[in-house]
Amino acid sequence: MTKKWWHDKVAYQIYPKSFYDSNGDGIGDIPGIISKLDYLRDLGVDIIWLSPCYQSPLADQGYDISDYYNIDPCFGTMEDMEQLIAEAKKRNMYILMDLVVNHCSDEHEWFRRACEDPDGKYGNFFYLRDKKDGELPTNWRSYFGGPVWEDLPGTNKQYLHVFHKKQPDLNWENPELREEVYRNINWWLDKGLGGFRIDAIMNIKKALPFRNYTSDRADGLCNIYEMLREADGIGEFLGEMRDRTFRKYDAFTVGEVFNEKPDELSDFIGEDGYFSSMFDFNETIFGGSPKGWYDAKPITPDDYKKCCFESQAKTGDIGFLSNIIENHDEPRGVSRYIPEGDCCTESKKMLAALNFMLRGLPFIYQGQELGMENIPFGSIDDVDDISTHDEYRVALDAGLTPEEALKAVSKFSRDNARTPMQWSDEINAGFTTGTPWLKVNPNYTKINAAAQLDDADSVWHFYQKLIALRKNPAYKQTIVYGKLEPVWEAVHNLMAYYRKDDKTLLVVGNYQREEQSITLPSPYNQVLLNNFKEVMEEDGVIRLQGYQVLILEICE
Ligand code: GLC
Ligand code: CA
Repeated sequence: MTKKWWHDKVAYQIYPKSFYDSNGDGIGDIPGIISKLDYLRDLGVDIIWLSPCYQSPLADQGYDISDYYNIDPCFGTMEDMEQLIAEAKKRNMYILMDLVVNHCSDEHEWFRRACEDPDGKYGNFFYLRDKKDGELPTNWRSYFGGPVWEDLPGTNKQYLHVFHKKQPDLNWENPELREEVYRNINWWLDKGLGGFRIDAIMNIKKALPFRNYTSDRADGLCNIYEMLREADGIGEFLGEMRDRTFRKYDAFTVGEVFNEKPDELSDFIGEDGYFSSMFDFNETIFGGSPKGWYDAKPITPDDYKKCCFESQAKTGDIGFLSNIIENHDEPRGVSRYIPEGDCCTESKKMLAALNFMLRGLPFIYQGQELGMENIPFGSIDDVDDISTHDEYRVALDAGLTPEEALKAVSKFSRDNARTPMQWSDEINAGFTTGTPWLKVNPNYTKINAAAQLDDADSVWHFYQKLIALRKNPAYKQTIVYGKLEPVWEAVHNLMAYYRKDDKTLLVVGNYQREEQSITLPSPYNQVLLNNFKEVMEEDGVIRLQGYQVLILEICE
């Protein structure tokens, strides 16, 4: 395998609106990010992915872009952005922006022009269909609920939006649109970006001609995946995009890829793939129900292990997955993957090590390094996220009481990850001197960066050690490139695997509160990381304490 500059890196996702507010308006901003670069460098982060901060009406918190060449004033200016790139570079860090090109905002100039002249050039930038009485062009349900069709203002047409109605889908079949996208990507790469995280990209190819699919709910609509499953040929778009943009810059790209066809993996992330990497969502989609969040099944430690190993086996050494515990679309991983009642410093560290040592690129989402947890919502009015509001309504329609519905959607709400970053125990967790745009998690007095930086045993310091281990020249080859081999796969509530290359490492986590013993197949010569003070061992038998995790270097 040809070595690439990004293979051994560690990435960190920033959700700008909630990271750090520098001017007291309650909204995180780019100067705020710049002021925290040293914090990230000290942690060991190399690559920073920024969720969108382009000009946007923020209907979907920036994933609805009205100008791809401008920064939204609430986040700062283009000069701020340029300064961020420069300051990152000084610290050997790279900035990734979010590439949101399945759709733009209905406030984008292209869309305005399409409304003015639907049969003209810009009408063909979107998917428009003639409006018929009492009948929609298709029966597809949008990701955020309701039909994907909306009236095109001032015309007798309708436009397609697979996400929110303020996010009209762009017509990738139109070469003129694709040119506009490539021009924008290159313009940003010329500014010195390290690359992009690529949003919702599997939606750019639609199955044509459009048709109806069997409906799966009382609303008479069908899941959008019914259509996407039939869409062939996305590779032509993705290959063209790579050749026209990323490849020339040796940029790092990570795709938000769902549902790729099994034999396509190497096209996506192989040696000359469309992307450098793609996220592993196997754990996050586990237990999902076509009925909605209210019907989703919780994930157990054994399920979690199975999901991780499945992805690892599927990927092998074809390429590098990007491994996450959470992101801005998911609840907090520690609240989700650690059994209820067991969320504590030790179990958080165990989850961190088990995920971090998998083959692939580790991505840390802001606050994950502190073990930030889900927020208890007092009422649905405390929720900002459009997706949670939709799922709440779905739950009510299914007959749940308002209390039950709130409880059900709270577990999955995207706002869990979007509450302000907890910097200190000062007012508003030190995030802002004003009123935060979204409520701060009340547990900030206990969970915050200032306290953890002062405490050598904190979750933060554990993440710092994990990163340092990945970068340690003695282990780097093994941790970055080594094969992953599961061990004791059938043992209940135990997750263990070898990483093998020039060294052999054993990662083992006791995924339960009770003790559990393991018999080492061969002796170890070093404990590289332990979330407890000691290793209780006798004659090759290790008695693991509840939620203990060990990274051992095995003798050869
Ligand atoms: C992706 C983003 C999500 C957004 C959606 C539409 O899934 O991660 O936050 O709502 O795309 O852009
Ligand atoms: Ca601000």
